[in-house]
Amino acid sequence: MLGIESSCDETGVALVRGQELLGEAVASSMDEHSRFGGIIPEIASRAHLEAMAPTLQAALRDAGLTLTDVDAIAVTAGPGLVGSLNLGAAAAKALSLALDRPLYGVNHVIGHVAVDRLIHGPFPDPVMGLVVSGGHSSLLLIKDIATDVVELGQTIDDAAGEAFDKVGRLLGLPYPGGPHVDRLAQDGDPQAIRFPRGLTAPKDQARHAYDFSFSGLKTAVARYVEGERAAGRELHVPDIAASFAAAVVDVLTAKTVAACQRHDVRTLVIGGGFSANSQLRALAAERCAAAGIELRIPPPQYCTDNGAMIAALGAAVLASGAAPSPLTFGVDSSMPLETVCL
Ligand code: KG4
Ligand code: ZN
Repeated sequence: MLGIESSCDETGVALVRGQELLGEAVASSMDEHSRFGGIIPEIASRAHLEAMAPTLQAALRDAGLTLTDVDAIAVTAGPGLVGSLNLGAAAAKALSLALDRPLYGVNHVIGHVAVDRLIHGPFPDPVMGLVVSGGHSSLLLIKDIATDVVELGQTIDDAAGEAFDKVGRLLGLPYPGGPHVDRLAQDGDPQAIRFPRGLTAPKDQARHAYDFSFSGLKTAVARYVEGERAAGRELHVPDIAASFAAAVVDVLTAKTVAACQRHDVRTLVIGGGFSANSQLRALAAERCAAAGIELRIPPPQYCTDNGAMIAALGAAVLASGAAPSPLTFGVDSSMPLETVCL
């Protein structure tokens, strides 16, 4: 299975056989976006166009294979930036047509969970998936990664990584701010400032038990910073970072563990670029251990966007016997999280 990922700023290509990773390559356009303080879709699309063929060649070389060895192709169909998705889909459709191989248009967010099968082996039935990045914060109940995914909740405003990036900007840190806030937080007191925990009030339990909201928190941090400056006090940035990070990961882990217990799930997979966050890793490990839940987090290069996640999910869909996607499929920038394959 040849997997192609191009939903945001990474061009990723990988080859898997079953659930064994054979080779891969990733190109990133992040350096071209950082001076703008955010991803510029048009720049990302152009970077995919330039990177697609060389990245494909590099992945084949890494696997010691040629295009004629490919039996099937999987590509990210959504969610993501529409121009970027279209670049990957066009490449995948061209390969499918030229090689006369079936094509599977699969879901990026579910791919973030699927990739862990290449790393830590087969999934028990069921698993909980928490996908946290700059673009998503989603909680997925996965009975079968190829056929049965239920969305329990997601962010109703900012994603976890996005909130870190915005607070990073507020504190004058370079983009993306997430890793910088993480590092500063390690030297701060997480209990110094009590920031709000979004959607955790009793009144939120009925409609938003497993949804997340981080925009109120971000505003609370902004107000706190303004207040301190107005009072002429010097900011203690590590304490602000640590208290903010504590609020984000407290909510993420509390809701995820509660969902595991509610649905009797004993294995949690965390994926997405934000899973590199050290506060999240520490608290998830602690709370999962206390609740008797096995915690699986892929190594960092498989948490950020990559081709292996799409090849892994494509291979699972193929093995399930699902029909390939029609060559006429259109990408879906807001692909529903319960649609595994188009
Ligand atoms: O998955 P990813 O590479 O790209 C998206 O699809 O968004 O995730 C990147 C996001 C960014 O918001 C980045 O700031 C955040 O994840 N991030 C972190 C850390 N590493 C990456 N946030 C907090 N702590 C980190 N260590
Ligand atoms: Zn992603």
